[in-house]
Amino acid sequence: MAGLGTLCLAVQLPLVCLLLRSSASTAQHTLGTGSSLSVEDRARAFLVSPDGTFACGFVQVGDNAFSFSVWFTAAKSSAVVWTANRDSPVNGRGSRISFRHDGELALADTNGTTVWASRTGGGGRGLTVSLRDTGNLVVVDPSTGRAVWQSFDWPTDTLLPSQRFNKQTKLVAGYYSLYFDNDNVLRMLYDGPEISSIYWPLPDLRVFGNDRTSYNSSRIAILDDAGVFRSSDRLQALASDMGVGVRRRLTIEQDGNLRMYSLNASTGGWTVTWSALKQPCQAHGLCGKNGICEYLPSQRCSCPPGYVMNDAQDWGKGCNPTFAVGNCSQGAASEKFMSFKVAQTDFYGYDLKFNMSMTFEICREQCLLDCQCVAFSYRLDGAGRCYTKGMLFNGYTSANFPGSIYLKVPLDINASALRVSAQSAAAGLACSPVVPVLTVSAAVYGMPARNSWKWTYFFAFAGVLGVLDLLFIATGWWFLSSKQSIPSSLEAGYRMVLTSQFRRFTYRELKDATSNFKEELGRGGSGVVYRGVLDGGKVVAVKKLAVEVSMQGDEEFWAEMTVLGRINHMNLVRIWGFCSEHKHKLLVYEYVENQSLDRHLFDAADGKQTTLSWSDRYKIVLGTARGLAYLHHECLEWVIHCDMKPENILLTREFDAKIADFGLAKLSKRDGGAGVELTHMRGTSGYIAPEWALNVPINAKVDVYSFGIVLLEIVVGSRVADQRTAAGERLQMPQIAQALRHVLDGGDVMSLVDARLQGQFNPRQAMEMVRISLACMDERNSRPTMDDIAKALTAFDDEDEHPAYRS
Ligand SMILES: *[C@@H]1O[C@H](CO)[C@@H](O)[C@H](O)[C@H]1NC(C)=O
Ligand SMILES: *[C@@H]1O[C@H](CO)[C@@H](O)[C@H](O)[C@H]1NC(C)=O
Ligand SMILES: *[C@@H]1O[C@H](CO)[C@@H](O)[C@H](O)[C@H]1NC(C)=O
Ligand SMILES: *[C@@H]1O[C@H](CO)[C@@H](O)[C@H](O)[C@H]1NC(C)=O
Ligand SMILES: *[C@@H]1O[C@H](CO)[C@@H](O)[C@H](O)[C@H]1NC(C)=O
Ligand SMILES: *[C@@H]1O[C@H](CO)[C@@H](O)[C@H](O)[C@H]1NC(C)=O
Ligand SMILES: *[C@@H]1O[C@H](CO)[C@@H](O)[C@H](O)[C@H]1NC(C)=O
Repeated sequence: MAGLGTLCLAVQLPLVCLLLRSSASTAQHTLGTGSSLSVEDRARAFLVSPDGTFACGFVQVGDNAFSFSVWFTAAKSSAVVWTANRDSPVNGRGSRISFRHDGELALADTNGTTVWASRTGGGGRGLTVSLRDTGNLVVVDPSTGRAVWQSFDWPTDTLLPSQRFNKQTKLVAGYYSLYFDNDNVLRMLYDGPEISSIYWPLPDLRVFGNDRTSYNSSRIAILDDAGVFRSSDRLQALASDMGVGVRRRLTIEQDGNLRMYSLNASTGGWTVTWSALKQPCQAHGLCGKNGICEYLPSQRCSCPPGYVMNDAQDWGKGCNPTFAVGNCSQGAASEKFMSFKVAQTDFYGYDLKFNMSMTFEICREQCLLDCQCVAFSYRLDGAGRCYTKGMLFNGYTSANFPGSIYLKVPLDINASALRVSAQSAAAGLACSPVVPVLTVSAAVYGMPARNSWKWTYFFAFAGVLGVLDLLFIATGWWFLSSKQSIPSSLEAGYRMVLTSQFRRFTYRELKDATSNFKEELGRGGSGVVYRGVLDGGKVVAVKKLAVEVSMQGDEEFWAEMTVLGRINHMNLVRIWGFCSEHKHKLLVYEYVENQSLDRHLFDAADGKQTTLSWSDRYKIVLGTARGLAYLHHECLEWVIHCDMKPENILLTREFDAKIADFGLAKLSKRDGGAGVELTHMRGTSGYIAPEWALNVPINAKVDVYSFGIVLLEIVVGSRVADQRTAAGERLQMPQIAQALRHVLDGGDVMSLVDARLQGQFNPRQAMEMVRISLACMDERNSRPTMDDIAKALTAFDDEDEHPAYRS
């Protein structure tokens, strides 16, 4: 081997250099501090594993662009399994990987900038770096024998046998990633520039329908030496060549699929032995907006008839219509549009409306009349399913799809253009230039299409009613549902956690307290609330959870227990205790005297003359904002309410707001940063943020949206969802937002404020409320946080300075 000496350009350390030189003839698998390799010497490896399977060093990734990587020595292609600097390759001259004297492994670019480091500096103590037979690059403290850093903790797109995949790790390829979701399920997400969408396991089946579970919160997945990839959510993937002695890897790829490969040691080639998606078009985002993914038998994208490719080089940019869709500026829209059928094709998500039994004609008319509708999907299974689409993403064509998409096109469209592209689509050719997304051969998808593959859609509201993700709840459910008695040690554990904060009641006690559930206070999605009086004379609200021994009820019970148990804020309803006996699951809350906000705000018709005064309204708004801000920002766990509406704002005798019903809340660890990922639909129509319909990771901004609606309702004194034009048509959200903008610009807030107040209101506060409400309805990244809102509202809480405004 030539140039051995250059391994240790450590001129200042001749001794180390000498040592390295002498042992370098047999490839190094361990190095001490002071070792380095420059990119010019990339012909040599920095380290080689003892059995020679893996090596690490510089790999060329582009014109004069290099990365520091670990690779399979025997593989002819796709050999790289880990990369230190995937997103910032270094220059081909002067760059260097060094195991510095302070014990840090660092990669420096030409100009000396450190582009990547192991952050083990300061360790000193004669650390060593080695490459193990597993492919794990480790920095070891020889005094303890422990790894202080290992590449296995920082996977890029590949998982190797024995490498643990956990809640902190992600495999990423382009816009696609594999990760453990908040509900403990291993998922794949497309997170592109325009949309993000979960596509594996198949989103239209529930967790259990995909043979997974959300009850195990250990969030560990591991590929073993025999070719079995197991995850704590019960996923079990077997390599088709199962058995030991084969080199394997599990890689997420640019087409959004996750595949297991086996290395053919004699040829250096790879064979796919398992893949997560059985059909390539199941990955979302492949063909961009309006694009259609086809597989015949290799994968390609095409544009629907009448649409053309946006950027001939990049399917990610999708297709654009050659005509104007949904021009709302004129009535009688149905006379200006027709529908155009594209058979066996559908687009996933972005449904405007959904109806399980509708005739084709009504479905068609609904779309043509709705200016937001760009197409509708109609399926003959069942009584005729109708889905109107607001946008077209995740399009695919499949012979198994039991329906068609009908594009909305203007009557005066150039028919020849439509016919030409329609023919090419029918003939299986893409319109416009065919630029395959990737060259994934048919063999990769060698498995036969599953006939049972169902694209059963759920309109977001009907959506997957999911499973809460607490080990706590989960374990609790297991024991409850399996009708086993809780093992005494475990039960004691729960008791300890729960009764340290609440009292545990017997069913008998609560039955007596409520006089056999006589006086109903209210009903909600999760159960009925009764008034009760405890032995000491304390008045309480007892919520009896819906009795169907559905998982739902149990989950809600445990969820509420856990969430409420940790929460204490004056604007949030306190929980005093609970009862769990067989099928009986009840919660005991503090009793809040003056009913829920909706009764005071909307029920004026039923003979009640008193209207909430402006100052009370402002107090309620402020209290609600503070309660939500506490939930979002100050709790131990980050809590999203998910069902904010006037029904869930209770009022005390003094009209202080108390937020109720955390049964729908989800907990998520605060460290999530950018994306707390909730995948299950919750909430109430009229208050639900638009992103619920999009199958994207949900964050606290859904509450901000709902709060904005409630805020507006408090100002105007009626339901936002009931707002109508003079002609009696329901106002859509964009129209409402426009009206609010108009009010803000013109300063004419008077026209908006509840007329029942007869002008007794504070215009500055009203303007601020309208401003905040509008901001809350914005696209979610532009919405303020509840903290911002609480601060802004507090700044205007100057009632005492303006007693003249008091009603
Ligand atoms: C070093 O080069 C990189 C690009 O190669 C550049 O981004 C960085 O700013 C440079 N740093 C310094 C200190 O010049
Ligand atoms: C959770 O998953 C881990 C890893 O697969 C397993 O060891 C453990 O037994 C599971 N726990 C339960 C309660 O099923
Ligand atoms: C490796 O490839 C060769 C040539 O294609 C083939 O004959 C052999 O069966 C393969 N070995 C394995 C283990 O797949
Ligand atoms: C919508 O229709 C009106 C009236 O026909 C026309 O003036 C306007 O330009 C159209 N807008 C678009 C975007 O096509
Ligand atoms: C579906 O549409 C039919 C009319 O075609 C209507 O009677 C029915 O109530 C609708 N169902 C839902 C759930 O909206
Ligand atoms: C319609 O489209 C065809 C082919 O795309 C083109 O040749 C023709 O000029 C178009 N006609 C009109 C009226 O735009
Ligand atoms: C509830 O509100 C009404 C006004 O709507 C008020 O008169 C009453 O005192 C409040 N308290 C109770 C316990 O009803």
